Amino acid sequence: MASYSLLEERIRDLRREFEAKFIDRTPGSRALFERASRVLPGGVTYAIRYFKPYPIYIERADGSKIWDVDGNTYIDFWMGHGANILGHAPRFIIDTIREASLKGLHLGFENPYAVEYAELLAKIIPSIELLRFTNSGTEANMYAARLARAYTRRRYIVKIEGGWHGGYDSLHTGVTPPFTGPESAGLPEDFIKYTLVVPFNNIEYLEDTLRKYPVAAVFIEPVIGAGGCIEPIEGYLKSVREITERYGSLLVFDEVITGFRLALGGAQEYFNIKPDITVLGKIIGGGYPGAGAFGGIREVMELVDHIKYPDPRSRAFHGGTFVGNLITITAGYTVVKYLSDNKSLYEKAENLWTIAARRIDKICEEHDRLCWVTGVSTMIGVHFTKIKPRSVREAYEQRWSNIVEETLNLYARVNGIAYVSEKMVHLLPSLIHTREEAEKLISVIEHFLAGITRK
Ligand SMILES: Cc1ncc(COP(=O)(O)O)c(C=O)c1O
Repeated sequence: MASYSLLEERIRDLRREFEAKFIDRTPGSRALFERASRVLPGGVTYAIRYFKPYPIYIERADGSKIWDVDGNTYIDFWMGHGANILGHAPRFIIDTIREASLKGLHLGFENPYAVEYAELLAKIIPSIELLRFTNSGTEANMYAARLARAYTRRRYIVKIEGGWHGGYDSLHTGVTPPFTGPESAGLPEDFIKYTLVVPFNNIEYLEDTLRKYPVAAVFIEPVIGAGGCIEPIEGYLKSVREITERYGSLLVFDEVITGFRLALGGAQEYFNIKPDITVLGKIIGGGYPGAGAFGGIREVMELVDHIKYPDPRSRAFHGGTFVGNLITITAGYTVVKYLSDNKSLYEKAENLWTIAARRIDKICEEHDRLCWVTGVSTMIGVHFTKIKPRSVREAYEQRWSNIVEETLNLYARVNGIAYVSEKMVHLLPSLIHTREEAEKLISVIEHFLAGITRK
């Protein structure tokens, strides 16, 4: 095997070549980036969507594909941040929304549609008895944190190193290396002084923390998402469930990505572990904005109930102008109902992507073990690390190159594949991506590795 420094040199050469191709193919995106940079900080609406040397500006999406303003087509492995589980713009959802919008856009009062959706969700998500809708996954986590603190009358919150729960203060720490301190400017240390960060897949560390501190809740993504689609090791989630119970802390599953993805009932159905509170987002909105909810066992969720707790100070607040709005509720209900009527889609997708992931991992092995594949079902991580990462810390600390991830992203783009982010490969195919599309992904990764190793 060539030394890492020689590989790095080759990657740099390849990057120059791919960048020239990218620039050649994307004059329209380049011009938009220049315009955008005058009115949007960094030229983007969200930093995660930025790529070097500039982002692709997408004009249109359909099924598993997206088209940029220059007419280039990409197979999309990002799928609206994972929200579009049935692909982009399914006709039947658009038709349903068109019809629903004639009844009003935001009714602003209680409505029958939200009741019906809540009933459906309580039926299919194993641990949910009561729930409330929110406008995003971030918001759902924020309300879940408040609720857990109110219920347990404890201050501390535990989160996982590299876990991403959105930009809410109490959870906005320990996301990227060095995994300590505020993850943003303008976030005072004081606001996170009751947040404890522990490594994923390390039960001893968690138990030690729960023994030492009065912890209201442990927030965990059952399969790490933005941190690189890292799966729990056998028995880990079960142990997390047992020890949170033992120490009187609530267990919060952040299922913003895993919900309706790993199974209809999310990771809790897939791994057969029931949390106390579940946080949902993305797919729950059926591809429409305002996607989020938190729910759980009655005893906990009742603390949001204003009839039971008329004094606002005695209950955990939840609300918002657009919560339960007609459009998001209708889109979400339509998607989730479709999924519940077509459960075989899950089995098919799991088979397809388990095999694809194994094949990519084999290709990594054949190319001097330059990479490893992690994940479950339609959550796939590719890590250019010296060992297979079991935590987000390892996914960063064991990297052998600083540029290989973004070079792969660039190479994928010039070869008709798009995904976010360029810093961490985490692919979120929908349930409708085809075998041919999986083959294309495999072949792009294989060619990329062949280019680096010259095999
Ligand atoms: C696991 C997880 N939780 C929470 C969030 C935040 O959700 P939103 O972006 O809807 O606020 C995300 C978003 O990517 C996520 O992946």
